[in-house]
Amino acid sequence: MASEEKPLVVVTCTAPVNIAVIKYWGKRDEDLVLPINSSLSVTLHQDQLKTTTTAAISKDFTEDRIWLNGREEDVGQPRLQACLREIRRLARKRRSTGDEDPPPLSLSYKVHIASVNNFPTAAGLASSAAGHACLAYTLARVYGVDSDLSEAARRGSGSACRSLYGGFVEWQMGERADGKDSVARQVAPESHWPELRVLILVVSAERKPMGSTAGMQTSVETSPLLRFRAEAVVPGRMVEMTHCVRERDFQGFGRLTMKDSNQFHATCLDTFPPISYLSDISRRIIRLVHCFNAHHGQTKVAYTFDAGPNAVVFTLDDTVPEFVAAVRHCFPPESNGDKLLLFWEHGHGLTLAPGCFPLKLRPPFLATVARFSRTRARLRVCVCEVKYTPRVTHRVSSLEGRNRWPYAFHWVPEPVHVPRGDLPLPSRSAAPAPGSHCCSSCVESAVCTPSVGSSGRAARLSPGF
Ligand code: DP6
Repeated sequence: MASEEKPLVVVTCTAPVNIAVIKYWGKRDEDLVLPINSSLSVTLHQDQLKTTTTAAISKDFTEDRIWLNGREEDVGQPRLQACLREIRRLARKRRSTGDEDPPPLSLSYKVHIASVNNFPTAAGLASSAAGHACLAYTLARVYGVDSDLSEAARRGSGSACRSLYGGFVEWQMGERADGKDSVARQVAPESHWPELRVLILVVSAERKPMGSTAGMQTSVETSPLLRFRAEAVVPGRMVEMTHCVRERDFQGFGRLTMKDSNQFHATCLDTFPPISYLSDISRRIIRLVHCFNAHHGQTKVAYTFDAGPNAVVFTLDDTVPEFVAAVRHCFPPESNGDKLLLFWEHGHGLTLAPGCFPLKLRPPFLATVARFSRTRARLRVCVCEVKYTPRVTHRVSSLEGRNRWPYAFHWVPEPVHVPRGDLPLPSRSAAPAPGSHCCSSCVESAVCTPSVGSSGRAARLSPGF
């Protein structure tokens, strides 16, 4: 068998961000990462936000190693180890049941992993979900595992299990003590609601002051509201939200999304000492959304905030131009350092002429936006669709004699834009110079992280998922 083993296998995968509309906050088991309530999320298109991970296994490696955003990190982190153990367990199980096609790679081979985000890390943009989903998915591909990866992803970061599927995804909390029934399931595929759009209003790309893991642990210990929410509120909301998604009922979907975000942040304030993830700009965005909806007499846009100040706004495609114009009006580019960034479907930029904001506004709305116009904020906007599950972007086997590891660390997989259906091979020339634009759709480097250049130097990369 040893002679059949490949000396080196390299796989690169990408995974998307998911945004929860019914929030997960609080664990009943810290080690197994089991939640106190179910949650439901929307998986975003990978064109704007994604993690790209390359994993290689080789008989020449003497230890497991990991590089996050260009910097080597401690591979002994318990969550990383738990994910790795779970994947290797699944690979062993698959072999012992004999349902394996290609010649097996030795499970004793060590793995090297390199992972990059093309958006700010740990800034409340669900980077850990995309990061750990991508890790589990890539390791599974490299070790030849094709079973359910909920547990492997969840052990890395709870919300990560939802990024394994596209479209609308629930994470069922489960009841079993061993967590075997705490799994992610698709509620509806990505094709289900093609008109749905997701705007990400990047208020701040700074790392959040209190991470989700520590924050929810303190909430579990101190917030009576959290317990009430998990037991008495979320079960009903899961049913209601699933219904709204299935019926494509934007009114219901939007209202419930906002209410659940508000209740999540209320539990953060109910935590002792209190946790406050929202900023003044976040609160102004909330006011703008309610004002916009009141002006239209219906829920046309809906916000949600994770553990950070950045807003995620859901709307339908025909409302995007008007709402973006409202954002532009309220956070004018001149006070915004001309940094209002717009991405449009498939990366085509949306340009709005100054002053194109509709004038037929009711007086209360005008009064509110008049106050908004004094708001100084460096706000960036990214418009996404709901699409794409994790995918393999390229797979290389038996590189002996051609490329030797760690070549992959000198080539960071294409930073932003993978054309549909392409399986690009490593190309050093494809990487942009540090500080330049990653792709034609990236007018300014707002959510795209410039990657390493051909020399392998890391540029503006921050550690951690
Ligand atoms: C506010 O999945 O990051 O984004 O399981 O401790 O890694 P850990 O937490 P994480 O928590 C995400 C919380 C949230 C809401 C959500 O995505 O459901």
